[in-house]
Amino acid sequence: MRVLVIGSGAREHALLLALRRDPEVEALAVAPGNPGTAAVADQYDVDVTSADAVTELARRIGADLVVIGPEVPLVLGVGDALRAAGIACFGPSRDAARIEGSKAFAKDVMNAAGVRTASSEIVDNPGHLDAALDRFGPPAGEAAWVVKDDGLAAGKGVVVTADRDAARAHAAGLLDSGHPVLLESFLDGPEVSLFCVVDGDTVVPLLPAQDFKRVGDGDTGPNTGGMGAYAPLPWLPADVTTGIVDEIVKPVAAEMVRRGSSFSGLLYAGLAITSRGPAVVEFNCRFGDPETQSVLALLDSPLGQLLRAAATGRLAEFPALQWRDGAAVTVVLAAENYPGRPRVGDVIVGADAEGVLHAGTARRDDGAIVSSGGRVLSVVGTGADLDAARTEAYATLSSIRLPGSHFRRDIGQAAAEGKITL
Ligand code: GLY
Repeated sequence: MRVLVIGSGAREHALLLALRRDPEVEALAVAPGNPGTAAVADQYDVDVTSADAVTELARRIGADLVVIGPEVPLVLGVGDALRAAGIACFGPSRDAARIEGSKAFAKDVMNAAGVRTASSEIVDNPGHLDAALDRFGPPAGEAAWVVKDDGLAAGKGVVVTADRDAARAHAAGLLDSGHPVLLESFLDGPEVSLFCVVDGDTVVPLLPAQDFKRVGDGDTGPNTGGMGAYAPLPWLPADVTTGIVDEIVKPVAAEMVRRGSSFSGLLYAGLAITSRGPAVVEFNCRFGDPETQSVLALLDSPLGQLLRAAATGRLAEFPALQWRDGAAVTVVLAAENYPGRPRVGDVIVGADAEGVLHAGTARRDDGAIVSSGGRVLSVVGTGADLDAARTEAYATLSSIRLPGSHFRRDIGQAAAEGKITL
């Protein structure tokens, strides 16, 4: 099988490494990729938001399967174009990708499926903002305001705050730039990311993971695209995961089939385990970053065959997934000032170490690897348990040099210390 992966982050680097372990994968290509993925796959510099360009590339290289990593090509219908050209694609149609692309669509599907989620309201008129804020924040009994961009914002469009002025300023800024705002009630409790390979009504869950969205230790500072993740979750009983699949993901997948927007690809349920049980924070239409880096490090089943089965309507026949024992921890190394405008162009030392996945990196003309984005590297450690995986990840990090960079030191720590309880 010849597989083309679309994307350029550490998630795609992790996908490629897991695909390479599949004995049926004979050739790997990536577009546009990064200096890390160049060591794993043939690299093609095409515009991955262009359905024509991606389809032409897939045809030219004889791809049997295209795996689309990021949400933007999916929301733009690149998967539809590939399928129309007779090329198997792992990733939902433009129509089904609205589960991530439009928070309003997602809420509608969840309500119809009877799935517990935050109450919400869309504000598209600045004149209605103050009254809407009054209906949501602490005065109405909530712990905080949750203000989201009703569209794609790579995690950074979300502000969770108990400070009404900060909530108002974020919402007003989004409205000023023409973006409708989604106000949500706050869901308390530990968060879980559950990735499910889905084809229509068939749902195959991967290991549950947890990511860390705030930039600072102890969940402080602004939201980011994700500063680290670990899997599996020792504090999450297996029956809770089963309940999430049976009572949340399957009903949502069935509702999408019912309304003619059948989902085929990776359905990512972001949940909070509240005192009343699991509730959905959001759905995404693709693998999450950085959770994928941890989850795939533990996958023993052949990833290419799994994704091809989903892309060709044979997921129900796929054997039960096999996982490696132990745990995986991913720590993101971020550039100075991230999640603000990151400092770029600095030489990175140690970026070729084992367990280091590339994201915001570039190769300079003289061959040096330099920083080129906010989240620069994902460093993955594995081990017999979370402690061992953390030790490995942080040992690797200590060998990497990037001026001004920062990372969280507490990824997976509370779970390793048994401090997360339901
Ligand atoms: N881990 C957050 C995301 O992928 O959206």
